[in-house]
Amino acid sequence: MPHPKTAENMMKSAGPIENEVLPHLIHVTEAAAIAAAHQIGRGDKNYADHVSVEAMRRMLNCLDIKGTIKIGEGERDEAPMLYIGEEVGTGESDIEVDIAVDPLEGTNLTADGIPGSISVMSMAEPGGLFHGPDVYMDKIVVGPEVVKYELDHPDEQIDLDAPVKQNLEIVAHALDRSIEELVVVILERDRHKAKIEEIRKAGARVNLVQDGDLMPGVATAIRGSGIHVVMGAGGSGEAVLTASAIKILGGKVLARLVLPTVANGKSQEEIDAEYEEKMPRLNKMGITMENMNEILDTEKLVPGKDVIFAATGVTTGNLLKGANLFGKGDARVHSISMGSSGVVKFTDTIYIGDKDETPLRL
Ligand code: FBP
Repeated sequence: MPHPKTAENMMKSAGPIENEVLPHLIHVTEAAAIAAAHQIGRGDKNYADHVSVEAMRRMLNCLDIKGTIKIGEGERDEAPMLYIGEEVGTGESDIEVDIAVDPLEGTNLTADGIPGSISVMSMAEPGGLFHGPDVYMDKIVVGPEVVKYELDHPDEQIDLDAPVKQNLEIVAHALDRSIEELVVVILERDRHKAKIEEIRKAGARVNLVQDGDLMPGVATAIRGSGIHVVMGAGGSGEAVLTASAIKILGGKVLARLVLPTVANGKSQEEIDAEYEEKMPRLNKMGITMENMNEILDTEKLVPGKDVIFAATGVTTGNLLKGANLFGKGDARVHSISMGSSGVVKFTDTIYIGDKDETPLRL
């Protein structure tokens, strides 16, 4: 029997980022989630995003790291905070990290009080995260059982370009169930109409989400979540964040960059305009017309070896409860955090606003 993993040997196998930074990471996503939670249902997605960005940045700047935002709120000229290239952290440590953030994933969900919004981020050593440009990635996300099945069955490999049914058959075999028993999450968008049809025709059940397919992607690697596959095109930053958790959990992401105008079937004129606007930026990231269609696997999306990930619920979703605000400034938040050594924590945190006024309650 393998020796059970203990905190001691986990700590010995963990890298410096996991050992030093991970314990503080949920404080960053918690702060962003609490700030956003005050805006749940208020109908203003931009303000909800703004306050969570501010809170996340403030907390990031308390961490003893030399951090660089690689996936953030946009280019320097479009975003005042957490822009690509911004340096964060106290700078008073030797720990250098690349950072991917989404302070509020699901801005509409928050503004409208709909389930599934989160605050989320990941970190890795420099060069450890794909520099996702501001376009979409078409993707498929599956859990670790599928990876193991593929190793044992070299002829049966998940393929982004294969017919949906072929991929679902592999997942069904890997999970030892029928296709009818699979649930596939996909964003409810016109661009996915044909794929949704294909999934249903193959026999699987479709869980359409209005926004926010990042945590459903993570959930494919967690049995009992009720989600087995995530498909479809969404934000490239979100795909890299998903891949950060999926790499830690042993699952698989296959992705390909695609311009939103192309994915959404816009006119040739609009497509050309987007190419013209974005190609210079993409070129700087090493992405050319020639290699843009290459498949990016989990390792390419997240080459890092010392990877950490954290997410906190804003509105309740599949894996995380939403933030609860009560009393005088009290907040209760539910988070998931994990690092490359394989420690995964679900954390239920209560911040007591005023200890004399409001006692802690269950
Ligand atoms: P925001 O939080 O920025 O609103 O993004 C939500 C989201 O649904 C992501 O989960 C997804 O990747 C992306 O938007 C899809 O983009 P689009 O709305 O353009 O289809």
